[in-house]
Amino acid sequence: MRDVTEHRVSMSAVRPHDVNGPAMMIRELGTSPAFRDLVLATPFPDWDWLMTKEEMGAHELEQFESALQDPASRLVTLERHGKPLAAARVFLLDWDTRVLGLTAGRAKLWFRPDLNPGDAVEWLRRVKQAADQLGVELLDLKIDARVAQLAGPLRAAGFYLVDCLVSYASPVRGDGARYQHLIRPARAEDRPELVSLTLEAFSDPRSSCNRFVIDPHLGVEKAACLYTAWMANLLDGNGAEAVLVSEHAGKIAGYITFNTVRGPWQTRVAAADIPLNAVSSAERGRGHYTDLVNAVFSLAHERGCTHIHIRTQLTAVPVHATWARRGAHMVKTLYSFHAVPEERV
Ligand SMILES: CC(C)(COP(=O)(O)OP(=O)(O)OC[C@H]1O[C@@H](n2cnc3c(N)ncnc32)[C@H](O)[C@@H]1OP(=O)(O)O)[C@@H](O)C(=O)NCCC(=O)NCCS
Repeated sequence: MRDVTEHRVSMSAVRPHDVNGPAMMIRELGTSPAFRDLVLATPFPDWDWLMTKEEMGAHELEQFESALQDPASRLVTLERHGKPLAAARVFLLDWDTRVLGLTAGRAKLWFRPDLNPGDAVEWLRRVKQAADQLGVELLDLKIDARVAQLAGPLRAAGFYLVDCLVSYASPVRGDGARYQHLIRPARAEDRPELVSLTLEAFSDPRSSCNRFVIDPHLGVEKAACLYTAWMANLLDGNGAEAVLVSEHAGKIAGYITFNTVRGPWQTRVAAADIPLNAVSSAERGRGHYTDLVNAVFSLAHERGCTHIHIRTQLTAVPVHATWARRGAHMVKTLYSFHAVPEERV
């Protein structure tokens, strides 16, 4: 017997008189050893390259518990003979919704590695329906590329592939890099040039195959809104601790942003991350990116980081070349899938 259940997580989940209602069932999910096993059995959680097995388990359990507590989320579970096979948290992405001008959501998945395709299709269809009921107009989810067996069920359930993300990580060493170009911190007056460079780099599918510009339901205009808002945010210090620029003839040729990331690893590892980086199309192929990456390694070293990480598109060949030459290793590959409500397809 198979049972797909959607739980609307509501504040009533914590009210004692809900003992016999569906909300109580949600509380039980959180403490049930069977759901604990499901969460821990899920293959390749995010940041798995940086965390120990124990840290990953604790991190995922914490995320599952917080999904149960979030009144704005929906939880879609699949059980057979009372044994949980899969669970998904569907939630709204407020910032994306604001900048894209449509309701954006995401699904976070937990599933057993031996989940069969038929069960997966049924569960994923319900995930999509739950998103539709939340008013989501664009649903995003990511799977590790090593669980590509979910690709078929995702397609059958109405999801389509929009990108492949590749993460590189490297230990940080200070090596006194020399630069071909002038590299300096961004100044307030650089803002218009940096925003327009971002617009050029990320809203043209010939330049960047990101999931926004690639999706026919979004395209150039939406990608432009999202990336320019993101860059403006980074320049305001939200999500970036530093922005470095490369100059040519007094004009900005490229930039790289820098941030430190916290996580369960932080007693052992001080990790840095690169949120956005680009070189203007007129200046590409002249070593600006190589200089910017060398400069960000030096900055990371100065700030006491032991590791640095970047996530890029599979198609961003110069990024792969540059990070590999710096000794970085590919540590993760993810597929992003989108789904939109039936009437928009
Ligand atoms: C990715 C990007 C920043 C590279 O900038 P760039 O200044 O042209 O890069 P560089 O000239 O410093 O070259 C970097 C490396 O890539 C290699 N490279 C450049 N173009 C290449 C291409 N088309 N094919 C293969 N290798 C290429 C270079 O040879 C160099 O490697 P090397 O130092 O081992 O020789 C730029 O293309 C860009 O802004 N793209 C659009 C936005 C984007 O994808 N940003 C990255 C998001 S993570």
